[in-house]
Amino acid sequence: MANILDSGVKLVRNVGRYNIGASSLGELHGLLARLRTEASQKGEPAYAIFLVDRYFKPDSTTGDRLAFRSGDALKFIDTTDEPTTDEIDSLVAALLQEGYTKPVAVVGMGGGITMDTAKAVSNLLTNGGKAAQYQGWDLVKLPGIFKVGIPTISGTGAEATRTCVMTNPASGLKLGMNSDFTVFDHVIMDPELTATVPRDQYFYTGMDAYIHCIEALAGSYRNAIGDAYSRETINLCRQVFLEDDMQTPANRERLMVASYLGGCAIATSYVGLVHPLSAGLSVVLGVHHCVGNCIVMRAMADYYPAAYDEFWQMAERQRVSVPEGICRNLDDATYKALYDASTMHQKPLTNALGENYKAILTLEKVTDLFRKM
Ligand SMILES: [Fe+2]
Repeated sequence: MANILDSGVKLVRNVGRYNIGASSLGELHGLLARLRTEASQKGEPAYAIFLVDRYFKPDSTTGDRLAFRSGDALKFIDTTDEPTTDEIDSLVAALLQEGYTKPVAVVGMGGGITMDTAKAVSNLLTNGGKAAQYQGWDLVKLPGIFKVGIPTISGTGAEATRTCVMTNPASGLKLGMNSDFTVFDHVIMDPELTATVPRDQYFYTGMDAYIHCIEALAGSYRNAIGDAYSRETINLCRQVFLEDDMQTPANRERLMVASYLGGCAIATSYVGLVHPLSAGLSVVLGVHHCVGNCIVMRAMADYYPAAYDEFWQMAERQRVSVPEGICRNLDDATYKALYDASTMHQKPLTNALGENYKAILTLEKVTDLFRKM
């Protein structure tokens, strides 16, 4: 019987181009000017679509910084929760109704939710249909609109991956459009954009990169390039989080690179035990992804002992507190729901614990792990 992990990565597409460094956001002006000129020369419309995290809404300079001009579309994205397929469909329908059918680019500026939304909108504008039709692997048939990603927080690695996470309330499926066409054509990594991220959020999100890579390196599905990306990501995270101040300009640039490399790592490997348990916290208790991972680390001493020690050393060093006790006194039905929502993640759990992972992760054992959180 073929191992379920053997369907892993054989062909990888990376981000087309990227800028890195303080003030590199300014490069967007030249990039969009070139795309607009090319469109005009072909007699095509030259407008762009900007999808921006609503955090930037009160900032009147946002439009100027993004090279927005009259005739472009600017939509602020609610990042309270991960996007549903319905929300993506409504956004696309609104853009089409307003006449934005063939933009020169879709620019997504924000965290993972905003960048994933930009990727999905870009693909739907050229492929048509509904978002749910493309949840899965290689279902997108046509290249999307030129995609530009501008991360404003570091860690999840959405800027580097070939997917865009969406939840489908009808089917209960949380799955992205895994496709070569879901990769950004251009990414701008400007560490000045992460200067105002609140400390706790900066830590939780940054640790997503670290946790992706400790899970990948401890797994049974391994390959040389994934390992190389993972090792350097962990290396950079150590430099950032074991220093006195994780948010100096140099550390913000390091973490931006760690996030990108961590995204490349996870695109060629699998996560392990932390992410499935964290997904359980998200689905059952509504806990957000990155803080959820950190909460799960409370129960990981037996599974990732070295990373467990290092993680808590980093949290202490940065004086960041991780929520505690959120699963201590739940009823049996809720523990069962947490168990179901966690153990359904077959690939990462096989990667971490082997094909018979359910013999290890019994209801009693999983309940015990959640109680430790
Ligand atoms: Fe993650």
